[in-house]
Amino acid sequence: MQKEKLIILDTSLRDGEQSPGVTLNVEEKVAIAKQLSRLGVDVIEAGFPIASPGDFLAVEKIAQEVGSLMEGREAIGKPAVICGFARALKKDIQAVYDAVKIAKHHRIHVSIATSDIHLEHKLKISREKCLEKAVEAVSFSKSLCEDVEFGAEDASRSDPIFLIKILGAVIDAGATTINIPDTVGYKTPAEFGNLIKYVVDNTVGAKDVIWSVHCHDDLGLATANTLAGISNGARQVEVTINGIGERAGNAALEEIVMNISTRASSHPVFHDINTRLLSSISKMVSDMTGMLVQPNKAIVGKNAFLHESGIHQDGILKNRETYEIINPEDVGVLASKFHLGKHSGRHAIQFRLEELGYSPSSFSSEQKDKLLAKFKKIADCKRSGVTNSDLHEIVCSILS
Ligand code: KIV
Ligand code: ZN
Repeated sequence: MQKEKLIILDTSLRDGEQSPGVTLNVEEKVAIAKQLSRLGVDVIEAGFPIASPGDFLAVEKIAQEVGSLMEGREAIGKPAVICGFARALKKDIQAVYDAVKIAKHHRIHVSIATSDIHLEHKLKISREKCLEKAVEAVSFSKSLCEDVEFGAEDASRSDPIFLIKILGAVIDAGATTINIPDTVGYKTPAEFGNLIKYVVDNTVGAKDVIWSVHCHDDLGLATANTLAGISNGARQVEVTINGIGERAGNAALEEIVMNISTRASSHPVFHDINTRLLSSISKMVSDMTGMLVQPNKAIVGKNAFLHESGIHQDGILKNRETYEIINPEDVGVLASKFHLGKHSGRHAIQFRLEELGYSPSSFSSEQKDKLLAKFKKIADCKRSGVTNSDLHEIVCSILS
């Protein structure tokens, strides 16, 4: 099967910054955008310029400083596209264009909700009016910029027949990417995959555009739904570092990318992300946003490559693939580590002692038994695990 390129749109600086309590200053946003560019992200959604003067400034600065950056992108051969977000309003669209236009490649992402619940209660307009506004917004965007993405907010709860009508009309008006968000993380993977298949098969002009998916994690399905979208024709994914975003967040970039790398034969696409930078960018975003990464978070959690039980540690020492499907170095974690705790066995303890400079021949078998007993005693009362200095103390007490 000929693999197709998957476009990675990172929206950490737009949807990610919509995480409750998160505000990044201009310098922090530029620093993150530079790192996203080095990571190999294809499109950086840099912000929502009409939202505040600070947001406008940040998007403009990113367009200036990152819009022509080639560092780390030699294999990709071009700088990242810098994109700004707009509602279907002329003043929003103009603000995006003014902020991003200096970037070598720039995009306007214009969005309007298409579900009846949003039309009736939020926008208070009819479907007809919605279609008219969408076409007007895309036409105006197109008059400013070649690269126009149209997003149908709450697409997954919209009437599919109305959805393909409006999507056909915005493609005709010049949209080049069509974004299908699962705005409230409502669909199951099978349902979301079917929706993508339906719009790709039934929208007039579908073959002339890139289909994008934008999934939220309210039911913990953002990654699964995004992958279902790819299996059914999506060739752009909208993701954030560490999965930050509104409420339960967005699909996590690192999860999508590592699914594609690790299970390559199961996916019809490839990506250009330098996965070795995933761990460091995760830390950078966590430090700057103040949003802690849960320890057991896939790929970037601090426990993602730590092994606790004696059976697992023994397996890893014999062959890492017994319990690791990803080489930690591939995501920038320098070595897999053991968490020494009450489940650890002789092999893992000996391995750590050797790392600390004690050769196995330093101990008689009686001393080894004593060492293990002392180790277990400490491990039983220390939830955080037995540290290297605990081990030094145990060794000293045994050898003295
Ligand atoms: O979740 C969503 O629907 C969005 C759009 C407004 C693109 O973030
Ligand atoms: Zn969103």
